[in-house]
Amino acid sequence: KASYNNILVEKRGKVALLTLNRPKALNALNSELMNELQDAMSTLDTDSGVGAFVLTGSEKAFAAGADIKEMSSKTFVDTYKGNWLSNWGSISRLRKPIIAAVNGYALGGGCEVAMMCDIIYAGDNARFGQPEITIGTIPGGGGTQRLIRAIGKARAMEMILTGEQMTAEEALRSGLVAKVFPKEETVAKAIETAEKISSFSQNHVIMAKEAVNQAYEVGLQQGLLFELRSFWTTFATEDQKEGMAAFIEKRKPNFRDQ
Ligand code: CAA
Repeated sequence: KASYNNILVEKRGKVALLTLNRPKALNALNSELMNELQDAMSTLDTDSGVGAFVLTGSEKAFAAGADIKEMSSKTFVDTYKGNWLSNWGSISRLRKPIIAAVNGYALGGGCEVAMMCDIIYAGDNARFGQPEITIGTIPGGGGTQRLIRAIGKARAMEMILTGEQMTAEEALRSGLVAKVFPKEETVAKAIETAEKISSFSQNHVIMAKEAVNQAYEVGLQQGLLFELRSFWTTFATEDQKEGMAAFIEKRKPNFRDQ
């Protein structure tokens, strides 16, 4: 198992728990941290013993954004030539579901990474925001695109143009997060949900995630066709036969990812 400087990686049964661990910088996302995160996640994504991810930070901060100290002296040419941050999106292309368990600050790149995940659970002290405008730049990790899809244009625009933060309660009301918990419980609840997801047929979980994500990318008719084709595909699997037979026979299904 690889050892990392900025993240902790743990397997809890079929759940991979990844913890951002740069407490002195409120988990600011420097290049080393992001490379480690991508390395760990891409390895675990192909591990058939892993059914889902939980990504979390500390109780004070999920992540306070891209690392401003690393970024501050970069020139336009550095960022352009280096394709700066373009690799972050790989988190959104992993096949297995990722639950972000967000306590404390999820600002800038922290909010953007949370939004790359499939489900966000928030602690009651969570704060979401895109403060880039206040430090002389704009979001670069997908914030202008994903926040508007999550919460609508008016509030997303307001947050991005003012840098104003959103509370956990508001994030729940606006659909950015799925559930809110007392902060001590966020990670445990996320693991519970990840365990539940991991108990289903892994192929079908991946197909369902892929189909839902199509809704972000394509028009309705194309999306519906993608969904239907994936739905038909499940009928080629033993897990579909097993799942439906178990329902009819009033017993628990035994999914074997076949
Ligand atoms: N980058 C680098 N270091 C950071 C950081 C960041 N994004 N956020 C916090 N830190 C560091 C601070 O510099 C400080 O370090 P020192 O002790 O060495 O001074 C340490 O973490 C603790 O931070 P604070 O003392 O500021 O803690 P606080 O509790 O007073 O405030 C906070 C917390 C409101 C989150 C504040 O730290 C803050 O505003 N952070 C920056 C948030 C931000 O602007 N994020 C956007 C970054 S740009 C971006 O993400 C671009 C993109 O789209 C990808």
